[in-house]
Amino acid sequence: MDQQVTIYQAETRKAKPDYNELSFGKHFTDHMFVMDYSTEKGWYDPRITPYEPLLMDPSSMVFHYGQSVFEGLKAYHSGDDVLLFRPEKNFERLNKSNERMNIPAVDVDFMVDALKQLVDIDHDWIPTKDGQSLYIRPFIISTEAGLSVRPASQYKLMIIMTPVGAYYSNSDHMSPVKIYVEDEFVRSVKGGVGFTKTSGNYAASLKAQTKAAELGYDQVLWLDALEKKYVEEVGSMNIFFKIDGEIVTPALNGSILSGITRNSVIELLRYWGYTVNERRISIEEVYNAQKDGTLEEVFGTGTAAVISPVGTLKWKEEELVINNNETGDVSLDLYETISGIQTGKKDDVLGWTI
Ligand code: COI
Repeated sequence: MDQQVTIYQAETRKAKPDYNELSFGKHFTDHMFVMDYSTEKGWYDPRITPYEPLLMDPSSMVFHYGQSVFEGLKAYHSGDDVLLFRPEKNFERLNKSNERMNIPAVDVDFMVDALKQLVDIDHDWIPTKDGQSLYIRPFIISTEAGLSVRPASQYKLMIIMTPVGAYYSNSDHMSPVKIYVEDEFVRSVKGGVGFTKTSGNYAASLKAQTKAAELGYDQVLWLDALEKKYVEEVGSMNIFFKIDGEIVTPALNGSILSGITRNSVIELLRYWGYTVNERRISIEEVYNAQKDGTLEEVFGTGTAAVISPVGTLKWKEEELVINNNETGDVSLDLYETISGIQTGKKDDVLGWTI
């Protein structure tokens, strides 16, 4: 895409929140990136503007038919530099979501370059403490006004940014979380949109998440929609099991999100010499492994959550306590290595940061 990003600087800068008490996604930086699309012009008018509310027609299609996709990635301080972790992967995945949701594709190289400009303008918002980062949320919404059910002819792509600490409010990064295995509701079916980051996937998960929270659990673990037998993913993370020395994670099957942290974890574990099996794994297999003492670790992976050890899995009447509710060695090594690479403290052996 052969276009320049126009920059409109904010006249005043906002007060920063207390970085000792950062919750997830509550405070936004001074600027945002915006770009519009119309069928006639394609993507046009890329710009960085002050962060401000949108004025939208109430009939904008996104409000009614939910044509919207999003991404999540992070920027980190590394001395005087700023590092982005595999940003091209996010825009490639955005295009996969776009394709399924009938939204026009974006130019990946252009978006990475635009993102660099945005992060540069608001770099003083990037937190510096361990475990903190600047969370970046690119998203696209259909903006055409009208109520016919069809792909919109107008869209808006935006990028907003927020300084964040740990995703789970009741824990630091490496405290084990409690997960409820959901066996009533389902998240996604094959042929559906489970592999995309579209808002509806998250909207459809909220009822189960509320139920799990009422029962004292942090998130739900989804099972496959057909048999409610095979493990899929957790609300905001992919999931991994260490069973008898080998690592197992559900294979990407069309209904699971293709996590960038998931992919990085698999690459790193293989680089370290672990056997990683991407395959179907039933919840019963997990239960049996726990009972015969071979379930060594369970952890989730995600941009927001990074590496999140799972201490408890509640499945029907069973409450499985994993690794005595302690953080396992693999989880810890992964967290330290990935966050070390992200913040430039460890060698970027697999060439991930820019
Ligand atoms: C992320 O990890 O970036 C996510 O998008 C998960 C969640 C916060 C929706």
